[in-house]
Amino acid sequence: MENLSTREATVEDLDDIMAIEDESFTAPWSRDSWERELNNPLTYYEVLLYHDVIIGYVGAWLLGDQAHIGNVAVGGEFRSNGYGRYMMNHYLFAVYEKGMTSATLEVRDDNIPAINLYESLGFQLEGVRKNYYAHVKRDGLIYWKRW
Ligand SMILES: CC(C)(COP(=O)(O)OP(=O)(O)OC[C@H]1O[C@@H](n2cnc3c(N)ncnc32)[C@H](O)[C@@H]1OP(=O)(O)O)[C@@H](O)C(=O)NCCC(=O)NCCS
Repeated sequence: MENLSTREATVEDLDDIMAIEDESFTAPWSRDSWERELNNPLTYYEVLLYHDVIIGYVGAWLLGDQAHIGNVAVGGEFRSNGYGRYMMNHYLFAVYEKGMTSATLEVRDDNIPAINLYESLGFQLEGVRKNYYAHVKRDGLIYWKRW
């Protein structure tokens, strides 16, 4: 993928991350929450760059040898170009290199683009949190990928 790259995220990236967060989620995290998240020594975040513009992010809590992925997003105008897949492939390799032996995440059961992406990356459905998204009566699906 030409013109794409990834690197570790820092608090300097907060403005760009917040812009994508706000357009991607109905209940976006606050700036304070994001700042705590990025400063937490247990987390590892990467941003996706198109040329040198941040267009996506992904991150996890690295707990023992498990990566608990909490955030994945690509900016609206950049979606469906294979960029999310590129970002996830690079990120999963990065956490594998850091010694993780598995990765897990949770996704709303009607988020078809995300489910398709995760399943195509080798994540397998291992659990359901019934009515986890109570306000819209949707379940949360728990996926795991093991190396
Ligand atoms: C999920 C998300 C990160 C995917 O990023 P993306 O850059 O659009 O994904 P890609 O273009 O790399 O597509 C990768 C795969 O995802 C799936 N996919 C992407 N867009 C899709 C769509 N509109 N409908 C169905 N499947 C889709 C496909 O399996 C696709 O592979 P394919 O092109 O070989 O068929 C992006 O849609 C997003 O940011 N959504 C809003 C935030 C969000 O829901 N995050 C996940 C929370 S768990």
